[in-house]
Amino acid sequence: MSKYVRPVGHPIFTERGDRKTAASSTIYADYSPCYVNSGTAALQLAIEIALRCATDDENNTSFNAAGEAEVIVPAYGCPDLITACIGANVRPVVVDSCDPRSPFPGFKQMAAAITPKTVAIMAVNFLGKSPELEKAQWQELRTLGGRHIIEDRAQAFPFASEEQSFFGNTVIASFGKGKPVSLLGGGMLLIERRYHHLCDFEHYNPRAVSTFERLKIQAKIAAYNLVIKPAAYGQLLKVPGLNIGATSYKPPLPIVPLDQARLSWLPANAYRLENDFRLKAHVERLVRVVSLNFKLSLIGSSQHALYDAKRMLRFPVLAQSKVHRDDLLRRFHKAGIGTSAMYVKALPDMDDVPLDDAVRKGDFSNARSFADRLFTLPCHSDVDEDTFKAIEDVLA
Ligand SMILES: Cc1ncc(COP(=O)(O)O)c(C=O)c1O
Repeated sequence: MSKYVRPVGHPIFTERGDRKTAASSTIYADYSPCYVNSGTAALQLAIEIALRCATDDENNTSFNAAGEAEVIVPAYGCPDLITACIGANVRPVVVDSCDPRSPFPGFKQMAAAITPKTVAIMAVNFLGKSPELEKAQWQELRTLGGRHIIEDRAQAFPFASEEQSFFGNTVIASFGKGKPVSLLGGGMLLIERRYHHLCDFEHYNPRAVSTFERLKIQAKIAAYNLVIKPAAYGQLLKVPGLNIGATSYKPPLPIVPLDQARLSWLPANAYRLENDFRLKAHVERLVRVVSLNFKLSLIGSSQHALYDAKRMLRFPVLAQSKVHRDDLLRRFHKAGIGTSAMYVKALPDMDDVPLDDAVRKGDFSNARSFADRLFTLPCHSDVDEDTFKAIEDVLA
């Protein structure tokens, strides 16, 4: 195979943005950014802020011992969600999806999972789409005792121009590999202004870097940009033991500030992504291709509405069964199209994720069905007419 279209990821630019790019994409009116070493670190910091908020509440006598507080997390999700809970010393309360076609818990399930020990609900965006709730419903969950909504947009960069649509008290972005705005590492936590006093911003002042360190990061980025090209990616896959894209549980690391080099490249990368209008056309084309195949379905309970995004990180599709999905993955691989089964299992079924046995025994049938049937198609900037033809041929 001469060309192989990677499953996800855009090239990274090591150029400084100007005022215009920064203002439109990364300068927020109602939230203040705190830049840290990863999306997981940002998520952990968000939980710590929610925890401080709950313990500051004079009427709250629900949890006194460390580790008693609870955070609601979706059953179909990245193991980093659990890493952040463990790092912040809270108990993850895992909630099933609302429907076998959805990665998102519904309003009723989240409301039922709230207890006096709840300090936050994680609302996790999946590949570009937020959970299917209205802003008013998030507010109702807060008043029902959910307290604090952490909007995890690791998979959908929170552009400043979209600020009106944010519904979280805190909002997370990740700059990790394969994320919408990647800098090969880093994360951002946006904090609603009324919670500023709960974060020590001074402590997270961006870290200065030497010229040598800056050059080293630039060299890593240049190598990344080279190997993700379709002509090189197939060769990369032949390297034994690389296991690219596999998800596994990683224990929490200390939260440290982001370096100034990566931060200086953020506005230009965000601006370029926001203004790449080919990406919406890719999503629209894939909606048509998948809709024509009676064996496949789009994800989500409201189907097409879920794909109205201007861009998606990857294009999610549901096969009829696990066997059908795994067969398609093999055929796409042979055709040089990078697909993925994402997390493969629901969180309670991942052996390396530290969850109590009692949690694992719960009913997660919707998340399990979703995990068995999901696969993603590429929709990034290197997808072209040949890619669509190859996808259509596999599905024919
Ligand atoms: C939904 C979600 N949240 C958080 C993270 C953590 O981000 P990072 O890899 O930057 O630690 C990820 C990473 O894959 C993610 O997908």
